[in-house]
Amino acid sequence: MHIHVLGSGAGGGFPQWNCNCPNCDGLRKGTIKAKKRTQSSICVSSDGINWVLFNASPDVLQQIQEFPPLQPARAIRDSAIAGIVLIDAQIDHTTGLLMLREGQARREIWCTEMVRQDLTSGNPLFNILDHYCGVNCHEVPTDGKTSFEIPGVDDLRFIAVALKSAAPPYSPHRHDPHPGDTIGVLIEEISSGKKCWYSPGLGEIEPHLPTYFRQADCIMVDGTFWTDTEMPDMGLMPKRAREIGHIPQSGAGGMMEVLDGYPNARRVLIHINNTNPILRMDSAERAELKRRGIEVAFDGMDIIL
Ligand code: MLT
Ligand code: MN
Ligand code: ZN
Repeated sequence: MHIHVLGSGAGGGFPQWNCNCPNCDGLRKGTIKAKKRTQSSICVSSDGINWVLFNASPDVLQQIQEFPPLQPARAIRDSAIAGIVLIDAQIDHTTGLLMLREGQARREIWCTEMVRQDLTSGNPLFNILDHYCGVNCHEVPTDGKTSFEIPGVDDLRFIAVALKSAAPPYSPHRHDPHPGDTIGVLIEEISSGKKCWYSPGLGEIEPHLPTYFRQADCIMVDGTFWTDTEMPDMGLMPKRAREIGHIPQSGAGGMMEVLDGYPNARRVLIHINNTNPILRMDSAERAELKRRGIEVAFDGMDIIL
């Protein structure tokens, strides 16, 4: 299984257009050791020809330009993206769909019923796309048992797991969480049995999650914030990390502590916010991750299982 990180940043990317935090300012000025990052997305393939895109970030056109295997190669209009899986309906995971509106073939999209509702109401991207390529929306089961497959990507199968989180700000049920607002996905390559867990938004380690982590050869999880109070501490936003659905890396019950329980898997943090000190290659926080064997995703990272 080939996993390619298209975008390792959280919403806003790194540097963020309007942000003067020490990281964003330092990256622009070249005074810190860090790499720029586009917004949250990966693609996965078994044969290297047909790919599943996870999330469609606002940076998707740039991401396709930078990864030739996704580019048209077989017909006058073509794409190596056989299907798109949406893990939630957030802006940073869905607005790229508008950039993928060209062509006669309908976009094949897998998402939960909750995400479908948001993308036909508060953020009606599917309705808009109906005036362009159109959308075939396939409902993803969220019972954590029933797998689904994507035609054209025969050697991969997927199990979606509902995660506790908040629906996006524009959702009609923003303050009334429903299972399926956010999912994590266990991606399995059938021929090799290799598995990758992917959840760029993870607000809580619920009792049903360890069973998926235990099976995974690679655990790619939410790397948004280092501390729970990172945004309020910098005066950027009043809400804490956990309140907006992201477990911080440090502290009791933090992501490092969780990942310490799975030393045999590759453990990779993804969806990293521009404020996070782990973005600086020479930070103490980055050294702490290295000591624990936890990796930090970067744009263009390839993981072969
Ligand atoms: C999130 O991950 O919490 C959201 O994508 C935030 C945002 O809208 O940028
Ligand atoms: Mn996000
Ligand atoms: Zn910033």
